[in-house]
Amino acid sequence: MTVLVVGASGATGNHLVEQLLLQKHKVKVIVRTPERLPESWRNNNNLQIISASILKLGDQEMKEYCNGCQAIVSCLGHNLTWKGIYGQPRKLVTDATRRLCDAIKANDPEQPVRFILMNTTGNRNRDLNEPISFAQKCVIFLLRFLLPPHLDNEKAADYLRTKIGQNNQFIEWVAVRPDGLMNENEVSDYEIHPSPTRSAIFNAGKVSRINVGHYMANLISDDDLWNTWKGRMPVIYSKDSLD
Ligand SMILES: NC(=O)c1ccc[n+]([C@@H]2O[C@H](COP(=O)([O-])OP(=O)(O)OC[C@H]3O[C@@H](n4cnc5c(N)ncnc54)[C@H](OP(=O)(O)O)[C@@H]3O)[C@@H](O)[C@H]2O)c1
Repeated sequence: MTVLVVGASGATGNHLVEQLLLQKHKVKVIVRTPERLPESWRNNNNLQIISASILKLGDQEMKEYCNGCQAIVSCLGHNLTWKGIYGQPRKLVTDATRRLCDAIKANDPEQPVRFILMNTTGNRNRDLNEPISFAQKCVIFLLRFLLPPHLDNEKAADYLRTKIGQNNQFIEWVAVRPDGLMNENEVSDYEIHPSPTRSAIFNAGKVSRINVGHYMANLISDDDLWNTWKGRMPVIYSKDSLD
C-alpha cells in the first residue's frame, strides 16, 4: 500500500514509518524539517519526503499528496513548549484531520481510505459507555481549559466519530488511544482493549512508542485487524508495564 504519515518526525511517527518500511509499504511523509530525519530515510526509494508544514498546505496540494494513498496516519501532537501548548495552531490535530479527510473525499477514491488518528486514553469514546470517576471528570474538565492540546485531541476524535461516522463512502478510521508513552528500542508484547482498563489520570498504564507504531502499521497491513477495529478507539498498553 501507499501510506501518508503526518507527524512522521515525532517520536511515535518515526517508529511508525520504520515499521511501515519493514512491512514493505511505500511511505510518504510531510515534515517541516526534513534535515532532522534519519539519513537512511533520505536514501530509501520507498520513502517520499515532502517538505512542508501540514496546515500551511493549500487544498489542492493536500489533495495531490493524499492521492493514491490507501492509508493516512496522523501522529501529530503539540510540541511540549509554551508556544507548542498555548500558541497557534491550537487546533493542529483537529484541523489536520479534517483537511486530510476533505482531501481524501475530493480524490473520490474507489476503495475507502484507512485513516488512523493517534489519540489518547485521556479522551473517552462517547459512542460507548465508558464510565469514569467524578474526580477524573473534574480533572478532564479542567484540562480542557488549561491544556489546549487536550481539547484538540478530543475534537479530532469527535470529528471522526461524528462527521465521518461509521458508514462513510470514502473513509474508514481508527483512533488509537495510547496510555502514558515511553521510549523502547524493541517491539514487545502489548494489549489492545476497546476502552481503558485503568484510570488515565490516577492510575495510568504505559505503552512504548515503538509498540504504538507497530500496532498502527499492522492495522494498515492486516485486513482482519482493520475490520475488527475500524470505527473504534482501541486503547493500547505494553504488557511488561502493567502491574
Ligand atoms: N505523552 C504521552 O504520554 C501521550 C500519551 C497518549 C497520547 N499522546 C499523544 O500522542 C501524540 C504524539 O506523541 P509523540 O510523543 O509521538 O509526539 P512528538 O514526538 O511531540 O511529535 C509531534 C509531531 O507533531 C509535529 N508538529 C507539532 N507541531 C506542529 C505544527 N504546528 N505543524 C506541523 N507539525 C507539527 C511535530 O513536528 P516537528 O518535528 O516539525 O516539530 C512532530 O512530528 C500527541 O498528540 C500526544 O497528545 C501522548
